[in-house]
Amino acid sequence: MGRLNNLCKEMIGFYRGDPARIQHFMKVRGFAKLIGEEEGLDEKTLYILEAAACVHDIGIRPALEKYGKENGSLQEKEGPAEAEKMMKLLGFDQEVIERVSFLVGHHHTYTGIEGMDYQILVEADFLVNYFENNMDRETVRKSVEKIFRTESGKRIAQEMFFPEEFVMSETWAQDGLQELDDFIESQGIYIRQ
Ligand SMILES: [Fe+2]
Repeated sequence: MGRLNNLCKEMIGFYRGDPARIQHFMKVRGFAKLIGEEEGLDEKTLYILEAAACVHDIGIRPALEKYGKENGSLQEKEGPAEAEKMMKLLGFDQEVIERVSFLVGHHHTYTGIEGMDYQILVEADFLVNYFENNMDRETVRKSVEKIFRTESGKRIAQEMFFPEEFVMSETWAQDGLQELDDFIESQGIYIRQ
């Protein structure tokens, strides 16, 4: 955890004076972590996903500095080297750096998504961008249908943007009770019926 937080702090420094960018990646990390945990990712994949979420937009600054613009492909071009440099300095494993660097270099590419870390990073980024870019409902709907694959990601999108269409699962009530039972058991509390 310490190293991931250091990466976030480093990114806050990287985008100092730019609260919109800082709030963006912090939100993407939050959604990515939630979806990743809900989807049952193993520890290592979750770690890579969170690290990638922190640095995914690192290419914006070098792209702006070099070309005066920052479209998706320029970000993908400039991001990986910058992410590698930062993560090396913070002592991340080479294997983690390589995968994160790949994700930074592909997070605007929505064809041929392979791996849950890639899929969830894209979903989390979209969840935040739909809101930040004030996108209209129909565009959001089409994009969710086209791109989202995880149940948790789809559910968050539905609840956030189409709450009136959100259909509770038929076992929703039982699921809730089961969760409560599990919670009570884990806390060692006995409730008399
Ligand atoms: Fe982003």
